[in-house]
Amino acid sequence: MAKLAVLAVLASLLAAVSCKSSLSKWSIYIGYGYPSWGPWGPPQGQGYAPRTTASTQPPPRNDLKVGYYAGKNCSNAEEIVRKAVVNATAGVQAGLIRLFFHDCFVRGCDASVLLEQTADGPRTERQGFPNQSLRGFDVIEAAKDALEKECPGVVSCADILAFAARDASSILSHGKIEYYPVPAGRYDGNVSLESDVLGKNLPPPFADLATLTQMFADKGLNQTDMVVLSGGHSIGRSHCPSIDRVQPPNSPSPSMDPALAAKLNQTCDTPDNATTTVPQDDVTENDLDIQYYKNVLSGRVLFTSDAALNSTDTRELVKRYAGDISGALEWYLYFAEAMVKMGNIGVKTGPPKGEGEIRNKCGFVNPPKAN
Ligand code: HEM
Repeated sequence: MAKLAVLAVLASLLAAVSCKSSLSKWSIYIGYGYPSWGPWGPPQGQGYAPRTTASTQPPPRNDLKVGYYAGKNCSNAEEIVRKAVVNATAGVQAGLIRLFFHDCFVRGCDASVLLEQTADGPRTERQGFPNQSLRGFDVIEAAKDALEKECPGVVSCADILAFAARDASSILSHGKIEYYPVPAGRYDGNVSLESDVLGKNLPPPFADLATLTQMFADKGLNQTDMVVLSGGHSIGRSHCPSIDRVQPPNSPSPSMDPALAAKLNQTCDTPDNATTTVPQDDVTENDLDIQYYKNVLSGRVLFTSDAALNSTDTRELVKRYAGDISGALEWYLYFAEAMVKMGNIGVKTGPPKGEGEIRNKCGFVNPPKAN
């Protein structure tokens, strides 16, 4: 009898979570032309219950559409990108998610982060300090080469990045983050400046909560989005010099788990410190999961910006994601939502009015057209 009662409680909890999930799943795509909401569609007439902890919905962008390339005679576009991402290592897949974040935060999601050279010269975003450790460029370029063979001049590098970040999220979370629909139709920018990066658009690892909240707000993302997206630090690696919590003036950080501090000091105290890397989450290094939030609460995170989430304003949300199955399910869902929302930042449009182009090679702007 007691067992039955427990099962009934569990069943109602899961039902409540999955109900919330399906509502969330469709609400994010309103305005993107997602065809009749496919398998994710809500039954007609079912009311929309407002959510308590979700990221706010992105303002719909009329210039982005789910399934955009099917309408451009390139229906294999997303599959071609996925093949390139599947073949990458888990570390490079993590790098692809970071690459998308660093692209979107500087001049919008326009692939400006990929440029090696522009009309302004070679001092592009790639040379900016936090970008020197980015990885995944080869995967994007391989996908672009394959796409140029299949449908030349059609798929933008900015969209390849958005697809690749989605694919990597789905793979590294072992499908817990769904293969979510990505609105596409972005054009590639042709300006990329090293001076735009450091301290201007990308938050530094020593940022406090107020700075992080403001820097995300400047991009149209709220504090919940920031907390949700920071879960990206449950995968990938960091170079020792980035770990501000074990360096003066922050060291020893009183809120860092002493065992982790000792381990980091030992690993990073080497002559080749600059090239030494450590996992961001040393419990489940290659799983995009909610372990990050447990690490925030137990002081096992690398940066001040991670530890800042254990502040009064955000602690409850962190506890929720770290807590039980319903919090975890919510995070997997909202991570996808927040990635879609991040993908709206500063989108470029194409000719005749827009300033964007479809690059031939992701590392270089197109040569000027001959008259
Ligand atoms: C909230 C502000 C953020 C700060 C201050 C920050 C800072 C950093 C730093 C310093 C590193 C280590 C770089 C290195 O030394 O190699 C890093 C790595 C990483 N970040 Fe963030 N980050 C932030 C937000 C995000 C977001 C929003 C995402 C994705 C949604 C993300 C995904 C990653 C990933 C996946 C890595 C590991 C990359 C790899 O292994 O190549 N970060 N971040």
